[in-house]
Amino acid sequence: MTGGPVLAVDQGTSGTKALVLCPERGVIGTGTAPVRPRHLPGGLVEVDPRELYDSVVAAGRAALAEAGTPVTAVGLANQGETVLAWDPATGDPLTDALVWQDRRAASVCDGLADHAELLHRLTGLPVDPYFAAPKMAWIRRHATGAGVVTTSDAWLVHRLTGAFVTDAATAGRTGLLDPDTVAWSETALDLYGLGGERLPRVVDCDTPVGTTTAFGPPLPLTGLLVDQQAALLAQSAGEPSAAKCTYGTGAFLLARTGPEPRRVPSGLVSCVAWRLGGRVEHCLDGQVYTVASAVRWLTDLGVLAGAEEIDAVGGGVPDTGGVTFVPALAGLAAPWWRGDVRGSLTGLGLDTSPGHLVRALCEGIAAQVVELAAAVASDRGAPLTSLRADGGLTRSALLMQTQADLLQLPVEVASSPDATALGVGAVARLGLHPGLALHEAVPEWKPSAVYEPRIGADEAAARLAAFRAEVSALVDRGGAGA
Ligand code: G3P
Repeated sequence: MTGGPVLAVDQGTSGTKALVLCPERGVIGTGTAPVRPRHLPGGLVEVDPRELYDSVVAAGRAALAEAGTPVTAVGLANQGETVLAWDPATGDPLTDALVWQDRRAASVCDGLADHAELLHRLTGLPVDPYFAAPKMAWIRRHATGAGVVTTSDAWLVHRLTGAFVTDAATAGRTGLLDPDTVAWSETALDLYGLGGERLPRVVDCDTPVGTTTAFGPPLPLTGLLVDQQAALLAQSAGEPSAAKCTYGTGAFLLARTGPEPRRVPSGLVSCVAWRLGGRVEHCLDGQVYTVASAVRWLTDLGVLAGAEEIDAVGGGVPDTGGVTFVPALAGLAAPWWRGDVRGSLTGLGLDTSPGHLVRALCEGIAAQVVELAAAVASDRGAPLTSLRADGGLTRSALLMQTQADLLQLPVEVASSPDATALGVGAVARLGLHPGLALHEAVPEWKPSAVYEPRIGADEAAARLAAFRAEVSALVDRGGAGA
């Protein structure tokens, strides 16, 4: 790697993590700050935007203090589809931030049913409340007509530097971007009722957008990238065909598809991976909405004391004891796109123990990832040969082994769970040194562990069939009591 240390900030759903990345010595400073989204009845998930900004500043300052050395630039990764209205004159929020998991914009999507196919074709994204555009439309209809309504990155960058921008990849996850031109689509804007909105300028991810003093000395902000694409960049810089899955609040499986946008039949999202130095890379993206959120749910119910107990509790039993858990606690995303569906636990008996529930959760998460991997293979016309994994829940050997078993492929766990920060740190480095090749900006990818399948193909197929049967039943029942 070239250049001096950079500060890489990963602003996520449940907290912000900042790393100081040094080309010679790796991670030399770390800072974290929590964020507490509120989970409200009716699938509402919101957070005070000031908490997001304060966590960015606190985590960044803590990482710099630990590193004790000056940095040359800052990169900021963001959580993607979280939106708010704010006053561009003062920078003050006008609404709470509607978090990507929030389902309140379902009514907006229902109203667009006749245009769903056109919007999918135009933007590469299905019409679903997960994305930014329906939430932006909901805010305009039900909360405020004042100020601007944007994804959280645009607000954070404005607070940090005064610029009014969003990067091409974050813009690509709104449902408002034309991936052929990488510009806002007037047709999509009109259909969502957002025509005439003042929108941030779409910039390359490695554009120096301004200077911030939020972390102490003035620093250029030279890297912007939505978090899942940042993790993909870190994991595929040296191997463009690699597919990665990040196991965080949700799980997100992404794989690169090259410089041309695609429209795919599988139900996966096809969107901008990044635009660096004017060159666009596209990717496929599939989502499992509730992963760490589902672990937190089991924790709140008292089944577990926390994520760190998954292996101890699940390891106490040899199998799920016949329990099947579809952890669709906030609906099903790709390839089903059934936000109205809710999770199910079946096969419970008087002998069902916390260990069985934990194992069933691991299988439920892993089975959804298998469906996404199959869709990527079918859309790209080539089978996956392995899956690269990062994110906090890769610390669970039980989850990773279950993933390898059901996928029937090796799961290679990244040596750093912080691929998102490594990716956006690389982008910040590219913003500072435009001549640098992508693989020169990213630390060499090395697995810390490789999980090989330990069950045969027949057993994997039988377990997947049980899961699929449950999903089909839920999808058939849909919102009517699922
Ligand atoms: O699409 C939302 C996702 O990018 C959020 O990621 O890390 O905050 O769970 P994370």
